[in-house]
Formats: sequence, structure tokens, C-alpha cells
Amino acid sequence: MKEKILITGGCGFIGSHTACVLLESGYEVVIIDNLSNSKVEVIDKIKKISSKEVTFYEGDVCDKKLLKKIFKQEKIDVVIHFAAFKAVGESVKLPLKYYRNNLDTTLSLLEVMNEFNCKRLVFSSSATVYGSPKSLPIKEDFPLSTTNPYGTTKLMIEQILKDLAKSDPTWSIAILRYFNPIGAHESGLIGENPNDIPNNLMPYIVKVANKELEILSIFGSDYDTKDGTGVRDYIHVMDLAKGHEKAIEKVLAETKIDCYNLGTGEGYSVLELVETFKRVNNVDVPYKIVERRPGDIAACYADPTYAYKELGFKAERGIEEMCKDAYHFVEKNK
Ligand code: UFG
Repeated sequence: MKEKILITGGCGFIGSHTACVLLESGYEVVIIDNLSNSKVEVIDKIKKISSKEVTFYEGDVCDKKLLKKIFKQEKIDVVIHFAAFKAVGESVKLPLKYYRNNLDTTLSLLEVMNEFNCKRLVFSSSATVYGSPKSLPIKEDFPLSTTNPYGTTKLMIEQILKDLAKSDPTWSIAILRYFNPIGAHESGLIGENPNDIPNNLMPYIVKVANKELEILSIFGSDYDTKDGTGVRDYIHVMDLAKGHEKAIEKVLAETKIDCYNLGTGEGYSVLELVETFKRVNNVDVPYKIVERRPGDIAACYADPTYAYKELGFKAERGIEEMCKDAYHFVEKNK
């Protein structure tokens, strides 16, 4: 048996896929999740996919009493910290909710980790910390800035982690900056399933294809991009999950703090994604062009070379597979 990994937010979209990848590789997995944006059924699905056991604690990462109980009961080697609020628009309307939750969870977790001398951490950050990049592709040493409170919580936490590692160099931390994760596990058992009307492109496309929503609004066709619509670096969630396994290997092998882009290095426009989705799934996705969404940037894609050099991570799945797997999940769970 390999090391024991605590996954905060392990019932969520990226957390659940990461749990499957780690179990498959022989790690022991403990999950804490308060189910604020996920369902407890995910635990059974993770067990079914992996044919392995998972220890689940329902509760909040702000709850230090519960955290201490977990660290006392389980001998945790590495923590992956996913648990956070992540809706950009909501964070603009309710900034205090975002600062309170995302910072409180992280500080409580770090304090308890310190107390139990568990100092290996993989942190879920986001490409949002690059703000409006001056050039593309984006490298890890680009200047950092944010345009909304959600992004600012990620950037603040990155700073907290850097200060912590500086004060105590026995901490070993990998900060992962995700680009745009889409797709689902090939089984169709787990995937992205927002309860409300989706904010992000792929879950919206899927709901329009499935006739749960009428029409997709494409936010702007006058950007300085290949076809005028926004360009993003979409990465299959299973590739992203694999990136977490590589990051665990890194924090176990080397004691340092570092940041890594997790993307493919390829940019696709909104129209390209919609057309690929329609073609590979043989479904219609009606759309209309509307105004730009405030705060959006024209294009964003990673330079993935540092993650490859340092972690040995390279995304393998293409855009067609991402579109197929995203739709398969919804079809299977109709
Ligand atoms: N888009 C549409 N219609 C929609 C939704 C999105 O046209 O209904 C467009 C956007 O304008 C953008 C592209 O699709 O050009 C992707 O938008 P998403 O909302 O799916 O993703 P973002 O790149 O805006 O945001 C994502 C994450 C954030 C993160 C950000 C930067 O959702 O958490 O990347 O890393 F902060």
C-alpha cells in the first residue's frame, strides 16, 4: 500500500476524479466534504469505479475539531486541498462569503497539518491568478493579478503558502494552476453536475444538448482571436487528476514549494468547442451570439513545459474525447 492521502472536497468534480486515479494507483484515500456543492452518492461511485474502499468524513474543513479527529485517526501523509467555493459571478456579489470560506478552510487545515506534523500539500489554484496575461502561452513566472474575489482568494492562498514555506522549509507544497477542466470519467459514473444553471461553458453546452436548457449564449464574437470567440485551454478532468498524482510524487520526493500549470498548451475557441461537441456526439446545440461577459479575457492557454519537466506531466486526451465523455456522463445519468 502506498501513502495515505486526505482529499478535501473529494466529492466535487476534480476531487472525485482524482480520488479514482489515486485509488487505482494504490494510494489510500480519505475524503472530507461538506456536500455544499456535491452529493454523497459520489462516494459509492468512486468505490465502484476503483473497487477499493474510501474513508469518508462528512463535514466542513473549517471545523478544526473534526480535522484533528481525522488526523488523529488516520495517518495522513499528503493532503490535496480542493474544498472551496468557485463561482466567479457569485464571488463578485458575495465577496465576504468567498473570503470567509476559502481562507478559513485553508488556514484551519494548515494549522492542523502543522500540529500533526503533516507538511506535504497539493493545492488547487487556478489560471485565474494570471489575470489578463500580456502574452501567450502563459508561463508560471508571469505576473499575477486577479479580476474577482474568487480569483483573489486563490492568489491570497498562494501567498499564504509561500510565506509558510519560507518560515518553515520543511513544508513541501505543489501549487497547481488549472486551466479549463472538462470531460468526465469514461465510465459515465462521475462528472460535472452543477445543481443550478451552469456558469461554465461545457456544462451549459451539455444541458442545451440534453434539452434541459433552450439555447447557448456565446459571450462575444468580436475578440481578437481566430474566429472572434473566446479561446481557452480545455483539459480533460482525468488528465488533470493524473497531474495530482504527479504532484503527490513530487511533494514526497522533494521538499520545496513550486507552482505548475496544468493545461494542454492548446487553445480552442467557443465555436470550435461547440462544433466539435455537435459532431462527435451527433446532437444539436443551438446558440446565439450575445454581448461579451464582463471580466472575460480574449484568450488563455498554458505553456505546459515546466509541468512536464518537473512533474513528468503531459495531458493525453484530446478535445473530441473531452466532448464525448462530458456528454456520455449526462446521457448515462438522465
Ligand atoms: N462562455 C460562453 N457562454 C457561456 C459560458 C461561457 O460563451 O454560457 C465562454 C466564455 O466567454 C469563455 C469560455 O466560454 O470565453 C469559457 O468560459 P468558462 O466560464 O467555461 O470558463 P472561464 O475561462 O471563464 O473560467 C474558468 C473557471 C474559473 C477560472 C477561470 C480562469 O471557471 O474558475 O477559468 O482560470 F477562474
